[in-house]
Amino acid sequence: SRPGALSQDLAGRRIVVTAGGTREPLDPVRFLGNASSGRQGYAVATVAAARGARVTLIAANVELPVPSGADVIRVGDALSLREAVLKAAADADVVVMAAAVADFRPVTAAEHKIKKAAGAPQPVALEANPDILAELVAGRSGQLLVGFAAETGDASGSVLEHGRAKLAAKGCDLLVVNAVGEGRAFGQAENAAVILDAAGGEVDVPFGPKAVLAAAICDAIAARLD
Ligand code: CTP
Ligand code: CA
Repeated sequence: SRPGALSQDLAGRRIVVTAGGTREPLDPVRFLGNASSGRQGYAVATVAAARGARVTLIAANVELPVPSGADVIRVGDALSLREAVLKAAADADVVVMAAAVADFRPVTAAEHKIKKAAGAPQPVALEANPDILAELVAGRSGQLLVGFAAETGDASGSVLEHGRAKLAAKGCDLLVVNAVGEGRAFGQAENAAVILDAAGGEVDVPFGPKAVLAAAICDAIAARLD
């Protein structure tokens, strides 16, 4: 290839990437959310597009410039993310679930803004959101499925042990596991991770720019296509 040319190893591949974090409404102006900035998903979308993929980026509450070459669909809560992903996944080769999907949502969202004069509200009742990655695995028609997990080590296991267990439980092809805590991952420009595959393989990506981790993820994807 030309000197300096980027490999086109994802040429023509249809890749769906979710990014950001869902917001589950409590009332018209308030939500339950999380701290995901969308940076890692945007980095994957950027690198995949640069390597020739046709990228659909499903962005949940992300305030970052749109990666060149990606089509962006904006969503708010987990149910709208689910709808957009399942639709886009139908004719995709790869789905990368980098978004932080809220596990639970308020059972009801108030139609009008909750006023403090009414006094402290009752505890907010929550119900489970669907597990979108699990649905993709259950309904898959040949797509390569990539999950993400932010884990902390605890008494029941290390970051890697939790990651292995999650990969097995989810049934996806690849799981990108990062260690969180100590100011790592959320909103930062740099990240470190281990890319686990279902066959027991493991690629260590040391702490560095999210674009470098994105490239390693794209390498792992490209190696498993065709
Ligand atoms: N995910 C999803 N739908 C959900 C929750 C998570 O598709 N309702 C996806 C995430 O996008 C991520 C992967 O599943 O790619 C793992 O998410 P994570 O929150 O780590 O796993 P959970 O199964 O929700 O388990 P827990 O939060 O209890 O660790
Ligand atoms: Ca979760």
